[in-house]
Amino acid sequence: MMKKIIITIDGWSSCGKSTLAKQLAKELGYIYIDSGAMYRAITLYFLRHHIDWTNNEEVQKALENISLEFNYNAKSGQSEIFLNGESVEYMIRDLVIAENVSEVATIKIVRDFAVAVQQKMGKKKGIVMDGRDIGTTVFPNAELKIFMTADISVRVERRFKEMFEKNPNITIEEVKNNLEMRDYIDSNREVSPLRKAEDAIVIDNTHISMEQQLKFALNLLEENK
Ligand code: CDP
Repeated sequence: MMKKIIITIDGWSSCGKSTLAKQLAKELGYIYIDSGAMYRAITLYFLRHHIDWTNNEEVQKALENISLEFNYNAKSGQSEIFLNGESVEYMIRDLVIAENVSEVATIKIVRDFAVAVQQKMGKKKGIVMDGRDIGTTVFPNAELKIFMTADISVRVERRFKEMFEKNPNITIEEVKNNLEMRDYIDSNREVSPLRKAEDAIVIDNTHISMEQQLKFALNLLEENK
């Protein structure tokens, strides 16, 4: 059997990172970790408990009461994030979370908290993790790093379709504004901004199919051996 490695996938909002990460995890028998789900779950906790996240002390106290884990749901065949024992996988995809998560993700102690959990999950290797800073900060020594991108119009359309299924009141403009706002905050923040790691390989999936992107990534693995 091939030696287990760490694969990181970073990139812009809604450009197909999790699709590729899930494809690779399935193909290789690896664990898929959605690091964005952690920032979303933390944001959900802050909103529910009315935490003033401009106040570092309050944030610190709140983090002490947060435990995050991923569990496999046999029914859906997907792994789900649990916030203090409750599955919040569905709830964290709401627009209200998307509208606040990037601000929460700028906070250094929030990032330190999430990164520590992520690094622990990578100890045994055999994982694919997607996010914004996985190849740069979380696993700078990962064996394979991918940076994904796609045209904004394609990204907006894909995310709109996903969100419209759950909430028919949502508009294209809301989705577009949210993606652009998050991309801006994510790439301009002080701590671990969204960047392509120097040794990451770019996949632009604007014009390629899901099968093609998987094939491309598997070829990278072969070359990597
Ligand atoms: O699925 P999508 O690409 O829209 O976003 P996500 O992966 O669920 O991440 C949600 C937000 O969490 C991002 O816009 C970032 O603000 C933050 N995030 C981060 O700062 N670092 C990560 N490693 C992952 C997500």
